Amino acid sequence: MNILAIETSCDETALSIIQTHTYENNTNFKVLSDLVISQIDIHAEYGGVFPALAKREHAKNLVPLLKQALKEANLYTEKKINIENLEKIEGILEREPELYKSLISLLQNIETPSIDMIMVTYGPGLAPALWIGVNFARALSNIWNIPIIPVNHMEGHITSILLKENYLNQEHALLDLSEFSFPIISLLISGGHTQLVLIKNWGVYEIIGETIDDAVGEAFDKVARMLGMDYPGGPKISTAAQKGFENENIALPRPMINSGDYRFSFSGLKTAARYLIDDLQKEKKLNKQIIYDIAREFEHAVTEVLIKKTMSAVEAYNVQGLIIAGGVSANKFIIKAFKQKIEEYNIPLYLPEQKMCGDNSLMIATAGFINHVENKQKATIPENEIVAVGNLKL
Ligand code: KG4
Ligand code: ZN
Repeated sequence: MNILAIETSCDETALSIIQTHTYENNTNFKVLSDLVISQIDIHAEYGGVFPALAKREHAKNLVPLLKQALKEANLYTEKKINIENLEKIEGILEREPELYKSLISLLQNIETPSIDMIMVTYGPGLAPALWIGVNFARALSNIWNIPIIPVNHMEGHITSILLKENYLNQEHALLDLSEFSFPIISLLISGGHTQLVLIKNWGVYEIIGETIDDAVGEAFDKVARMLGMDYPGGPKISTAAQKGFENENIALPRPMINSGDYRFSFSGLKTAARYLIDDLQKEKKLNKQIIYDIAREFEHAVTEVLIKKTMSAVEAYNVQGLIIAGGVSANKFIIKAFKQKIEEYNIPLYLPEQKMCGDNSLMIATAGFINHVENKQKATIPENEIVAVGNLKL
């Protein structure tokens, strides 16, 4: 079976084609093409992701990515064909006339490729950005007469731990799900989310706690901006923190660390950083080394809170494993601290490989496959009922 996976929830336009082989109880994934266009440079100017711009870029990027992916997957054969339900597709892409035109001109000139299923992120994320991916998938589903499986982006991050980095054209038993015992706790840390999820089985999730205000990644990005670093600030804070020292004049709070529940709050930490930075600026003390020290202290504050809450969930639910995923799981300091901590517990720690931490479409294919093909309980939804849901929950 060939799967086309599409992810447009934020600032990466990602598209991939995966071939699955199922024998006995095992499914192997072979990645035929995996493409991504990052919009980071475009949004950096605005200090964060600008939704209308993200939408426009996705609409511009999707057709060229599809064309290239079909070529890489050897599914591209030039041939004039007649698309029958043009009016319906025009209706679906009504608000995106450019996307409609470029899609039709590609598809009228190639043989219908051997794609069996489309998996697309339908939430959570920026609604205008999500809609582009969803409507693109709906148009393709109509033209090629194949089903769509809508996928939750956060479930994608959870299943990103199953992906291998050296995947291209290699056959991997990506879905050897037998090694996992449940329940598992997953800490999801990204630009939009900070959640502790109790995983009772693949596809069966319960959010046991989440942030009441900012997400961790968001806090990284905002504090980075205060320190004069470009978007996305997470990786920049992380690099700066390595050069920082403990400094008794640089102290930030550990919000809600002793609240006794699984809720997080990072907005107060951000505000504390704001005051600290403003004061230092007034006193003309904000030099390079102080910036490194603040970055270090910020990273320590975040890490301590994440560890405290996560490990108390691990203890309370008697879990068989811990997953940490989402864009912020690329942070080496946080991960190192968790690796050390987990040694006190006799459970495995599952992490995505570095390249799979950020948004990608392979994780969307993986989540969609596990949920809807392996766990056959959920039927595919009719194409015209698939909508983008910005605040979609697990
Ligand atoms: O999952 P993701 O790629 O997109 C969302 O779904 O939000 O996460 C992006 C977030 C950004 O806030 C970015 O600054 C943060 O992940 N991030 C990091 C690091 N790499 C990415 N935060 C801290 N340290 C990093 N090394
Ligand atoms: Zn994400």
